[in-house]
Amino acid sequence: MKKPLMAGNWKMNKTVLEAIEFTKTLKNTISDIANVEVLICPAFTALYAVSNEIRGSNINLGSQNFFWESKGAFTGEISPVMIKDVGCSYVIIGHSERRQYFAETNEAVNKKIKAAFTVTLKPIVCVGETLKEREDNVTSKVIEKQIREGLFGLTLEQASSVVIAYEPVWAIGTGKTASPDQAQEIHHFIRKIYEQMYSKDISNKLRILYGGSVNSKNVSDLMNKPDIDGGLVGGASLEVESFTKLIRYFK
Ligand code: 13P
Repeated sequence: MKKPLMAGNWKMNKTVLEAIEFTKTLKNTISDIANVEVLICPAFTALYAVSNEIRGSNINLGSQNFFWESKGAFTGEISPVMIKDVGCSYVIIGHSERRQYFAETNEAVNKKIKAAFTVTLKPIVCVGETLKEREDNVTSKVIEKQIREGLFGLTLEQASSVVIAYEPVWAIGTGKTASPDQAQEIHHFIRKIYEQMYSKDISNKLRILYGGSVNSKNVSDLMNKPDIDGGLVGGASLEVESFTKLIRYFK
């Protein structure tokens, strides 16, 4: 059985003190949780403090991004080695906000995924279509391209430790969620592509998260779908109470 993954992407929110406070409280409220993997992805500045806070708990740490080189003259960038060193086990790669505001391409996503494996970080690779692409009926084409180009050249072993997050761009931070059926259709499609690229076994084991306005009201309808294995949550992961409700859904 795949263990579901509930991941909080804090984006550009929380000071160090706010991050510590959140983590202390979350640690207590979910200390009994074992059947779902819990992940928080703070901003770079809070990673070290949160890493100290989660030691010995059931909370995992991830970063929202990094650069693919391991060190050197890249002013303002953070390397996979540094992310691993600070205690992360996951890294989010190719979030639509990075694609949109920082011109991240499928080629860059590919380099980052490969860089993650050099330090055994597990990549959460984000894919998703814009509203225009959905209206133009090219959703599946866009997603297939993001996956085939983003994951190009991975070994079977590497492909097995990737997590995919389907985040329709039009559903992020808008309060508009993909309907559970819309999400399921794309998740199923992603699993089929994975089967073609790798194998049925790897595809069956792949965890595919849904992201885009997940909240305590819609979580159960979404997570009940057979190909949805967890969530990548923005807004509702910023408060302990709302994030805990999402985690506890699986209990
Ligand atoms: P929201 O949950 O705020 O819509 O954000 C989703 C997201 O982008 C998570 O990575």
